[in-house]
Amino acid sequence: MPLPKSEYVSNVWRDGIFAGKVVFCTGGAGTICSAQVRALVHLGANAAIIGRNVEKTAAMAKDIETARKGSKVIGLGGVDVRSFESLTKAAEQTVKELGGIDYVIAGAAGNFLAPITGLSTNAFRTVMEIDVVGSFNTLKATLPYLLESAAANKNDGKNPNTGGRIIFVSATLHYAGTPFQTHVAAAKAAIDALSANAAIEFGPRGITSNIIAPGPIGGTEGMERLVGAEGMEASKASVPLGRYGLVKEIADATVYLFSDAGNFVNGDLLVVDGGSWRMPMNG
Ligand code: HXC
Repeated sequence: MPLPKSEYVSNVWRDGIFAGKVVFCTGGAGTICSAQVRALVHLGANAAIIGRNVEKTAAMAKDIETARKGSKVIGLGGVDVRSFESLTKAAEQTVKELGGIDYVIAGAAGNFLAPITGLSTNAFRTVMEIDVVGSFNTLKATLPYLLESAAANKNDGKNPNTGGRIIFVSATLHYAGTPFQTHVAAAKAAIDALSANAAIEFGPRGITSNIIAPGPIGGTEGMERLVGAEGMEASKASVPLGRYGLVKEIADATVYLFSDAGNFVNGDLLVVDGGSWRMPMNG
């Protein structure tokens, strides 16, 4: 469901800060990732959203494009992040249509609740492949363009034209342990490691790689799957701030990391969860 304009990014950010920049986002038709892209587009970027579902991806791209006059947002559906070839083609198409790739959000993920006894090897492997192999493929397929952007937008602490940045969308499930989430927790731990290593390996060439770890965010498919409609109210008690987060608050964290304000943040992990993982009942 599209959000009203006032709800997709805070008004602390200056309009046009991402003018001329291109975002490539996997899982871009989902609630959280579409909000991240919408905020960046609202601040001037063009974008490619990548997804498996052709209609959903095209509709989301159109919706985001329409909300910001003058922007270009393309939807590349039918792309499974488990296929490096299909991601490479999506990256090439993005560069052909939008001129390059400056920012990447690796957001595609798979999730369901299952105890270890109810988790087949194939089920475990499926989530590892979507989340971990998919994130790796996203990094690999976009790396040549991220390197180009980083070279053209020197990260020297003075240049406000940022570029060559990747954010992996992780979670907080694996900081302790989460019932029925073994597969997802294992995958997100691996993604955290993937990001840290990319930060070290490509930092010297100007790329930054960071994690955003959303906590309980209202209105998302992930939360619906994890706690269900009836569990929503009760689980707010486990959040120190006493409420669920807004997708806008994940979008704001994204804007921060991609903007000039985030120049020196690399290999880091930004938890946006209202303090939830610090609660003894959650940790
Ligand atoms: C146990 C399950 C299962 C379930 C699927 N499987 N659902 N096992 N419990 N509820 C098993 C299947 O039986 C099969 O194993 C294996 O997983 C692969 O299933 P497929 O349906 O063939 O896989 P696929 O079509 O690729 O679908 C992947 C998916 C699906 C992950 C299972 O749910 C999906 O496409 N999800 C994408 C959307 C999504 O999940 N969004 C939420 C992301 S939110 P067998 O042994 O039978 O072959 C998120 C947030 C996390 O990630 C953090 C929150 C705080």
